[in-house]
Amino acid sequence: MTSLPSGPDGTGPAPIHLWFCPNEDLAPGIAATLASYWLDEQEQEVADGFLFERDRSQYLIAHALVRRVLALETGIPEAEAVIWRSSRGRPFLQLPSGGLPRGADMLDFNLSHARAYNLLGVSREHRIGVDVERMDRGDRGLENIITTFCAEEQDWIARAAPGRSRDRRVLRLWTLKEAYSKARGLGLALPFDSFAFTLAEDEGVLSFQPPADDSAERWRFLEVEPVPEVLAAVAVEVAGPHPPAVHLHHGFPWGRAAPRRLVLPELVGASRRGR
Ligand SMILES: CC(C)(COP(=O)(O)OP(=O)(O)OC[C@H]1O[C@@H](n2cnc3c(N)ncnc32)[C@H](O)[C@@H]1OP(=O)(O)O)[C@@H](O)C(=O)NCCC(=O)NCCS
Repeated sequence: MTSLPSGPDGTGPAPIHLWFCPNEDLAPGIAATLASYWLDEQEQEVADGFLFERDRSQYLIAHALVRRVLALETGIPEAEAVIWRSSRGRPFLQLPSGGLPRGADMLDFNLSHARAYNLLGVSREHRIGVDVERMDRGDRGLENIITTFCAEEQDWIARAAPGRSRDRRVLRLWTLKEAYSKARGLGLALPFDSFAFTLAEDEGVLSFQPPADDSAERWRFLEVEPVPEVLAAVAVEVAGPHPPAVHLHHGFPWGRAAPRRLVLPELVGASRRGR
């Protein structure tokens, strides 16, 4: 995996790396072994606290993925990365006093997991938030989610045929909202009706009305369906006119398979919320 800047002239912004990892890529026994070497005390404590083995296993896989990818990206060995959490629980990599071994003076990452799938976004220059959701949510219905959205988003959802089309609209909005609020480190503390997305029919954000304390111009959004029926969204705070490329990797990073290259699209109708 390359971690050098890769803009058009070789000096542009470093690409964003997305790692989509199904749990089945890392057998539970191997995940447990890796985690016993790599996870810090606090992570081990969280893992030990799960009631159900499947939740513990999910946590170990996700956090082995985080440490492996951070090691690839920064050169800091998996067990030596110091990860701290903000007061709202957002994890950050602590920068070593001499900077990152492979250069760059910042690195942001964000993790999401949805029953057997993990998505990790890593950026060397930009704040990033990611979210992944499965279309088959078992008995976890979507009605409660819809009530948290803005009126215009609820109207857009209501215009879709009940069933799959409707659920898809709900989850597209949900993943985008989570990705944005996670990029900002606010999580569910940010009311989901304080900002709104207008979406294209199949894929893509047409416009974004940010919360009162933010501006739309700073953000780019990407929707991805890494495997059928699994929806993901990425929010990136882009400073400057040149957005980074996006490299989508599939699977646990054992090898060096070439990523899929994606583009961070521009908002078609970016607008400020006038209040
Ligand atoms: C962030 C949040 C929206 C995640 O919701 P979710 O859909 O259940 O979970 P996802 O799988 O998409 O993401 C979970 C991951 O997001 C990251 N995360 C946690 N809090 C976050 C925050 N405030 N901002 C961004 N990312 C966060 C973590 O890596 C977490 O996984 P981990 O606990 O295994 O490390 C939700 O947990 C939240 O609002 N948390 C904040 C709660 C808070 O304010 N706590 C204060 C006391 S700690």
